[in-house]
Amino acid sequence: MKKRISLAALAFLLLTSLTAVSQKKIFNESEEQKKQRMAWWTNDRFGMFIHWGLYALPARHEWVKNAERITNDQYQKYFDQFNPDLYDPKAWAKQAKAAGMKYAVLTSKHHEGFCLFDSKFTDYKSTNTQAKRDLVKEFVDAFRAEGLKVGFYYSLIDWHHPDFTIDRVHPQRIDNGSDTAYARVNKGRDMKKYREYLFNQVRELMTNYGKIDIIWFDFSYPGKNGKGRDDWNSVELLKMVRQLQPQILVDNRLDLEDYDDGFDFVTPEQYKADEWPTVNGKKVPWETCQTFSGSWGYYRDENTWKSTAQLLELLIESVSKGGNLLLNVGPTARGVFDYRATQRLEGIGEWMKYNSPSIYGCTQAPKEFVAPPNTLLTYNPETKKLYIHLLSYPLNVLVVRDIADKVKYAQFLHDNSEIKYRKQGSHDISDKKNNNDLELSLPVLKPNTEIPVIEISLL
Ligand code: GLC
Repeated sequence: MKKRISLAALAFLLLTSLTAVSQKKIFNESEEQKKQRMAWWTNDRFGMFIHWGLYALPARHEWVKNAERITNDQYQKYFDQFNPDLYDPKAWAKQAKAAGMKYAVLTSKHHEGFCLFDSKFTDYKSTNTQAKRDLVKEFVDAFRAEGLKVGFYYSLIDWHHPDFTIDRVHPQRIDNGSDTAYARVNKGRDMKKYREYLFNQVRELMTNYGKIDIIWFDFSYPGKNGKGRDDWNSVELLKMVRQLQPQILVDNRLDLEDYDDGFDFVTPEQYKADEWPTVNGKKVPWETCQTFSGSWGYYRDENTWKSTAQLLELLIESVSKGGNLLLNVGPTARGVFDYRATQRLEGIGEWMKYNSPSIYGCTQAPKEFVAPPNTLLTYNPETKKLYIHLLSYPLNVLVVRDIADKVKYAQFLHDNSEIKYRKQGSHDISDKKNNNDLELSLPVLKPNTEIPVIEISLL
């Protein structure tokens, strides 16, 4: 008996402490207020990531400094050589907009430590290169002028700063390094000073460029010889950001995922989400970031480029699970988009021009709608429209299970041409079991759009 009581008490304690964990909060914003703050982003669904820095010169991945264990001295040649004479962010913004993207996130500083902005706290910045300009400022002005929202990626990691301690992902890491070996190489390095630098730079970014819509911190890797929230002082950093930019959206790489409000959205990278991601059992806003070809920075010899159709499928797939897509471009060292990126962006834009209503304002379809084979569903809860994306084009008919009694009208989205339909069993009295299935009758010829979309108006 005694034992049973204590077990029950234990279970109670466990339960309450679990609830407490999931309710840990830093701010006192309500769920509804957060939803409002994120409304534009949830609606827009599609943004451009831009990875640009000195690594565009070696042109073999933005981690080249790490992969080839390059020292600051050896890397200096890229700084000296940096001269993006064709940099024209207005052209970037136009391409992003034409592709149907609604926001953009630029690497203000990547792991290499080079700043594209005019920071007071370093000389390692674009103004001191042959570019002689604050490239972030020009980006912000150009994208805003096109009506796009602007965001900054800021690397928490810094492989150039003398106070950033050498750890397991640093270019000068020690293979199987003991604690004493690490202590030896880190003598004289002081993370406290680096933290000040980090706070100072983030304050500059949050103060000098007007309203910033997104800040994308990257990234934490806690554990042995790693770095996490204590190294960045993440809670205070986030408080500062929110104080300077109350409406800003923040990614989840500050190592604060045990706080309900330690992040706004999660960021699955380079993979297709099979279902809506959860944190502590709760569905959370999410955005997948993806490259065209496997590298974020310009990579001249990388040839595994995804096709326009594959990229569109990624976008549709994300929205069909309630998420966003941040699609990355790695401009060349001269400051232009790779011609392969331009081709893909144009292809996406061509599709978006006609089919974007199945993306903007859309989300996962309610459970009662089951996607027919080789299709993806999205749903606009405001307009009560269901969108069926035909990934492989069917022959003559498409059957949608159990929705016949909910349908008011059906058409192709790209040209508003009517699609005739009937209840599947209605012409065949012997078929009683499927009489609420919908049979859409499609033309034999696949419409002239990469992925045709059927728009169903629901009753
Ligand atoms: C990773 C990589 C980085 C890239 C980022 C984009 O964290 O370190 O190079 O910027 O993901 O999500």
